[in-house]
Amino acid sequence: MKTNFKHTWLLLSLLISPVFAQNEPRTVLDFNKNWRFYLGDEAKAKDVLFNDSDWRTLTLPHDWSIEGQFSERHLSTTQEGALPTGIGWYRKSFTVPVSAKSKAVFVEFDGVYRNSEVWINGHSLGTRPYGYSSFRYDLSKYLRFGTEKNVMSVRVDNSAQPNSRWYSGSGIYRNVRLVTTSQLAVDQWGTYMTTPTITNQNARVSLQTRIRNTGGKPQTVNITSTILDATGKEVASATVPTLRLIDTLTITSQQFDLKNPTLWSIENPYLYKVVTRIYSQNQLVDTFETPLGVRSFKFDPATGFSLNGKPMKILGVCLHHDLGALGTAVNRRAMQRQLELLKAMGCNGIRTAHNPPAPEFLDLCDQMGFIVMDEAFDMWKKKKSKQDYGLNWDVWHKTDLEDMVRRDRNHPSIFMWSIGNEIREQFDSTGLTITKELADIVKKLDTTRPVTSALTENIPEKNFIYRSGALDVLGFNYKHEAYADFPKTFPNQAILASETGSSLQTRGHYDMPSDSVRMWGKGGPANFKDGNPDWTASAYDNEAAYWGSTHEQTWKVIKKLPHMAGLYVWTGFDYLGEPHPYPWPARSSYFGILDLAGFPKDVYYLYQSEWTNQPVLHLFPHWNWQKGANVDVWAYYNQADEVELFLNDKSLGVRKKTGDDLHVMWRVPYEAGTLKAVSRKAGKVVLTRTMSTAGKPAKIQLIADRNTLRADGKDLSFVTVNVLDEQGNLVPDANHLITFNVKGEGSLAGVDNGYQASLEPFKVSYRKAYNGKCLTIIQTTEKSGKITLNATSEGLQAATIELISQ
Ligand code: GAL
Repeated sequence: MKTNFKHTWLLLSLLISPVFAQNEPRTVLDFNKNWRFYLGDEAKAKDVLFNDSDWRTLTLPHDWSIEGQFSERHLSTTQEGALPTGIGWYRKSFTVPVSAKSKAVFVEFDGVYRNSEVWINGHSLGTRPYGYSSFRYDLSKYLRFGTEKNVMSVRVDNSAQPNSRWYSGSGIYRNVRLVTTSQLAVDQWGTYMTTPTITNQNARVSLQTRIRNTGGKPQTVNITSTILDATGKEVASATVPTLRLIDTLTITSQQFDLKNPTLWSIENPYLYKVVTRIYSQNQLVDTFETPLGVRSFKFDPATGFSLNGKPMKILGVCLHHDLGALGTAVNRRAMQRQLELLKAMGCNGIRTAHNPPAPEFLDLCDQMGFIVMDEAFDMWKKKKSKQDYGLNWDVWHKTDLEDMVRRDRNHPSIFMWSIGNEIREQFDSTGLTITKELADIVKKLDTTRPVTSALTENIPEKNFIYRSGALDVLGFNYKHEAYADFPKTFPNQAILASETGSSLQTRGHYDMPSDSVRMWGKGGPANFKDGNPDWTASAYDNEAAYWGSTHEQTWKVIKKLPHMAGLYVWTGFDYLGEPHPYPWPARSSYFGILDLAGFPKDVYYLYQSEWTNQPVLHLFPHWNWQKGANVDVWAYYNQADEVELFLNDKSLGVRKKTGDDLHVMWRVPYEAGTLKAVSRKAGKVVLTRTMSTAGKPAKIQLIADRNTLRADGKDLSFVTVNVLDEQGNLVPDANHLITFNVKGEGSLAGVDNGYQASLEPFKVSYRKAYNGKCLTIIQTTEKSGKITLNATSEGLQAATIELISQ
């Protein structure tokens, strides 16, 4: 038995040793593969000799909660999503070549939820309570070189509940890297890039570099940095001729003139790259890359936000970090898909509610052109949930905030630092001191962006955070009726609606009549008992939490007020947890413009009609009702003066948006057939949309968002599964159980249908359709080849599609 174990070790460590490039001054290795995982506590697992051979082997990023079953047992409040939490252990064995002996070796974690402790070869490297911070540890002192194995153990403790107001996920849910540098190297997050002056002809670029010298003796170095344009061509350079490094950390600075800069903008998020090279005795000892986007911006109390001198509104959404069926386990493609869907709606901004996001998310925002509000905390010292970060505040807040700013300050997409969301201290005098302290922490590290906080108290005298005077931009959550008066209430103060809406919808579910608004809570239905027995909310934009508004109510106010810099709608996508106003078995939120599976709700097209230049005509609901029922038919449209609706070719009349309305409506006595809407401008047809009564469910349709994938073991295809009738109409109430089978170089990463009260697990090969649709997510392996997805269901014609992974 023992011998077997040893053999397995040897074999495993050979297989799993990272590949170190001998002559590279800096190597950054993916450290995600071949971790062993155990769900439960095991104190001895920190010891090198601990036998983990019967633990599961997996690849990070990993969220163990999403693999579990929804259950009432997991509820400490309804907020966290009803999935299991607990304690988990991860272990990884690896070898390090002798050539790394003279180097510094670090492990970098982008985020571990929550309360992690990391050991290397039995030595504790440290703990990190906050689940959203990135951190690294220096392993150099404890490593064994050559064929000897090293063991890293990580304990993750998410057992104390509740500690979040939304689904947090559990585990090493972001990427991990092993970084090897010379003893003389750029420090972690060691560059800071600013652009103090920008004209059409020239951008002054300033680069600070923090150099680490841990070799124990003074060193003389030369530093050269070059700016490369998007094609890789060198366009500017600067040199620090000779520098004597006496201390362990030295900060140097370099200035560049970048001629005729191409500016970073929403439409053209142009990125340069700065490559810094450090030489010691003519030998290259480190190379470090920093992205650069050249842009200027301003928040103005009277005229709102401008980018590169042009006034514009921030048209943003708030996002929590879960990726639906994938949980919180970071996947670049899943985040990119979310951003693509939002971009197509005309969205240009993201608020990372209410915590620092994964670094890849910010890279995507840089590349795709989003105005990001990077947020640090949902609570300060005063807790919002019994076991939350408030308990760690005193010891950790300075480090966590500093680390966020250091890590993120070179991202051109970040335009604001938010030090908190609806912080309890806004109502008491400790808010004065904490706000100042936090704003100071941020300003010491970055003066190029405003500090903001998302507030709810709009009576200035009562708002301690505002009264601290330390905020540059005020963020206001909700209370759209108050926006018009803000220039009087908060004179000379730049303002933005940091959170709006909290409007509630279930995709594809419609309650009649639709022409009154239902606010849940104060003054509206007291609680869920007044709701629907199947825990649905109506997808007409006419339900909201009492503190919020419908989408239309807020946007039509903000669009007319130049002093409002913009808005971040609560939320872009439904997220796990916070199923307001329903209790269990509802387990995910209703606030999204898109549902948890990423299917747009109808209100998506309201924003698209307002926020893009593309012609829009969106007609809803579906056309399958009881004969004689009165059905409210809505249309969102733009670039047209009017819309005419026809039922079975009979006109039901022309409607025009009146006043500042953003939709039109007809009340139609239902009769089966075809509904047709025609939008016209000056009498000319702009768009036509039709919708027909669906017959009996007949077949499955599969539509992949991407048919050609990368064979990197991470890439995803999101496949929409529709239940259609014989003619190809979506059957709007179909709820068939669909079974999936994947063959070839791919596997099933998750399934979903966007229904907020579905208790089916996400990591299985079946899903019931909800209102005609469900989703399956296919993940590639590292081998190229074909992937075949087959979907079957009793009584329906099956469907198959083929994807290529290369
Ligand atoms: C806000 C809060 C969000 C979310 C939202 C739901 O007040 O900032 O985190 O809870 O309410 O409506």
